[in-house]
Amino acid sequence: MLTFHAARYSSNAFKRCAVVLTDKGGKLSGDAAEANIFFEKALSRAAVNGRFIGADGQALALSGLSVSRCTQAILIGASSRARYDRMDWVKRGVDIGKSLDAAGVSEATIVLTGDTGKVDATAATTAVLEGIALANYRFDNFKTGLKDHQLGKLQKVTVLVDGKALQSVKEALPKVEGVIAGNMLARDLVNLPPNIATPSYMAETALKLKKEVGLDVDILDKKQLEKLGFNLMLAVGRGAEEEPCLVIMRHKGGNKNAPTHAIVGKGVMFDTGGYNLKPTGYMEAMKCDMAGAAAVMGTMKSLALREVKTNVVGVCPCLMNMVDGKAYLPSDIIKSYKGETVEIGNTDAEGRLALADAIAYTIDQEEPTDVIDLATLTGACMVALGGAYAGLFSNNQRLSSRLKAAGEQTAERLWPMPVDDFYAAKTQLADINNDGSRYGGASTAAVFLKKFVGKTSWAHLDIAGVSMDEKVPAPLKLKTATGFGVRLLTEHFEQLAAEENAPKSNKRGPGRPPKIKN
Ligand code: BES
Ligand code: MN
Ligand code: ZN
Repeated sequence: MLTFHAARYSSNAFKRCAVVLTDKGGKLSGDAAEANIFFEKALSRAAVNGRFIGADGQALALSGLSVSRCTQAILIGASSRARYDRMDWVKRGVDIGKSLDAAGVSEATIVLTGDTGKVDATAATTAVLEGIALANYRFDNFKTGLKDHQLGKLQKVTVLVDGKALQSVKEALPKVEGVIAGNMLARDLVNLPPNIATPSYMAETALKLKKEVGLDVDILDKKQLEKLGFNLMLAVGRGAEEEPCLVIMRHKGGNKNAPTHAIVGKGVMFDTGGYNLKPTGYMEAMKCDMAGAAAVMGTMKSLALREVKTNVVGVCPCLMNMVDGKAYLPSDIIKSYKGETVEIGNTDAEGRLALADAIAYTIDQEEPTDVIDLATLTGACMVALGGAYAGLFSNNQRLSSRLKAAGEQTAERLWPMPVDDFYAAKTQLADINNDGSRYGGASTAAVFLKKFVGKTSWAHLDIAGVSMDEKVPAPLKLKTATGFGVRLLTEHFEQLAAEENAPKSNKRGPGRPPKIKN
């Protein structure tokens, strides 16, 4: 396991492999210049020659250096660091992480003193560490007989920071480890194939979290869901051997009277399309169709490990969209949990059905002040935004701007998309149809969900394009599952927790009157 450490900068602390950032033109200044002397100017000799110009993210690895306890160094270009925001630091962290992985070192020390641009030293440092961990994630459990040189090596990273930042950086390290544990859980769940990651596997994973990190967990099985009237969700899951289940996880980090926030994740463990079967070329990647649920589980783990002081409930409808004699059919009409009837225009528009019941139930039962759902919902969103942004659909400006800002901090970016009724699918015999036009399909799906939300503040993140960094190129180039959403939501809830726990006088505006229940 990769662990993080922090110390005050000194070249005496260098061990195994030193990572040094360079300025414009590959120049070494400040502590980087001191490090250069320590390495008998090997760094500057390397940096002036060849293609290395210190461009942002450019890497140059040196080996066979003369200092015995630190024989390797990596120069990383950071020429515009004076303008870096937190996202830039995450990207530099990914660059560093990839270089360390390529170098195959088990231990590294990273010089992170000096100018950190638009953010403080702690924010920059945590961003870099997140990036390093993201880049060093591996999913090789199923490869047998891997040779030593093929395995992940990095075990220990020490950041060397300015003395005045040291205490705050040290305090932030467990938080980084918490969010990374959440990110990796989400990525593992997405990467696992559908013969292993079934609905019951998700239930077991949640129960494990209960033991490990102390979340409250409830699992509703098929029988209970039938009683409660989850007819849309059950219809989608009916064609599969494994029964659907609803996973409910609670993190009670806030005080009793503080509001509850809900996150709901689409957990279609595999999406064949159902009787509107997906053709070859479109079905293969559909183990990723539970990335929303995976992000919710990862976020819950992260919030628990970080002891974030707010109340969050995570809800995941887990099921498989398959064909057999019992499977639902196009033109079926089904009564939803909320009461509206839904005409099935297309069995491949299954995510919105499962989510509709899960969202309506969550609002009913948990009375959250706001709901955020995450779903690999539409190919249309992936066509619109590619891998750079997830689609952001919302009925609440404040919630959507907060989420967008959290996305910028974490390099899990969101782009606002429309949710107006213009996009609503036409229905013939029932209240609503789950299909829609190919054009504006991401908004059609969002409008469908909105019908099940009512007046509660809601945001929907369509993560179809960003959940897998494979076919669709994404900014961090992480390969396979990204765990998109965990870092974003953790940041979002950290911000909310800070506000909810701030002394009253610091709160902006008059605040809302407390909700009176009868
Ligand atoms: N799971 C898919 C969406 C998807 C596509 C996720 C590509 C990740 C990558 C979803 O269930 C789906 O099939 N959506 C249909 C909706 C249509 C039938 C209205 C789509 O996008 O084509
Ligand atoms: Mn589908
Ligand atoms: Zn789907």
